[in-house]
Amino acid sequence: MSALALARRLDAVRPVSGQALAESLGISRAAVWKRIESLRAAGLEIAAEGGRGYRLAHPVEWLRADRVLAELSPPARARLAALDIHDEVDSTMAVLARGLAAGAPSGSACLAEHQRAGRGRRGRAWASPLGANLYLSLLWRFDAGLGALAGLNLAIGVAVRDALARCGVAAARLKWPNDVIVDGRKLAGVLVEAGGQWHGPCHAVVGVGVNWRMPGAAGRAIDQPWTDVDRAGGGAIDRNLGAARVIDALLEALAAFERDGAGAFVARWHAHDALAGQAITVHEDGRRWTARALRVDAAGRLLVERDDGTTVALAAGEVSVRRRT
Ligand code: BTN
Repeated sequence: MSALALARRLDAVRPVSGQALAESLGISRAAVWKRIESLRAAGLEIAAEGGRGYRLAHPVEWLRADRVLAELSPPARARLAALDIHDEVDSTMAVLARGLAAGAPSGSACLAEHQRAGRGRRGRAWASPLGANLYLSLLWRFDAGLGALAGLNLAIGVAVRDALARCGVAAARLKWPNDVIVDGRKLAGVLVEAGGQWHGPCHAVVGVGVNWRMPGAAGRAIDQPWTDVDRAGGGAIDRNLGAARVIDALLEALAAFERDGAGAFVARWHAHDALAGQAITVHEDGRRWTARALRVDAAGRLLVERDDGTTVALAAGEVSVRRRT
């Protein structure tokens, strides 16, 4: 988005005049106005200070590959094959799916400042306003076949939770299949898209969306309780550092999962499980039924006790669950 060059010239304290923006970018005042409108439409909050120019409504730390890379641990730097930061994409999942088709190596990651068509689980949209949150995807290739990927959702959920706890969100907990929540409000979501052979080479594109500093308008459009890192205790942490911590944790989790499987992640999940023992409603194929959540297993399933006392295992992708209040 060429409008981002303009956004990077704005700050949250001193307004910059339309004339100064036009001169520094070599465009007309009308083009400045058009770009301001397109930035606003993408979710960036820009205040117009009557006669004095434009100002960001909140400070924005723009993502920079050099700053993210500088914060990575040495093992993560060794595992990361590439890091691309885009101004605007359809979805970072789609970017890496295209990369996959073009032969991108395992350990390729991409971040975007804005997604026009951010995707959530089960066909939902993912709110992706410009310059506000983290939208990240990471490609990992496996040799052991798709059958060996059961439980990957747990490894990724645990990694993202731990990274956000390291960013200051001490109360972050896990809601199966892989939401990170704080006091029942969604802080981060994970989407895993896997493909390839059942007994041979396969891959997973892991997508992570972290609400970092959700702007008011975008937040009002979300139809479930949410929070962000800023509100939940990580306000002092820069987005570049947050991105590095998430990438670091994901790369470590993927390598450990590939080597040892999901076992160790089950125990780590249990330590932060927000659902265990809770009364829940299960949404399945347009039906709803009630149960009590028990625990997750190494295949990444949620074991629940039905009202008739029987235990069933729920598979991610087939159902969604809500806590009953
Ligand atoms: C969920 O529904 O909880 C999963 C949300 C996953 C959102 C992330 S943002 C980065 C990546 N790109 C997408 O379009 N979706 C994932």
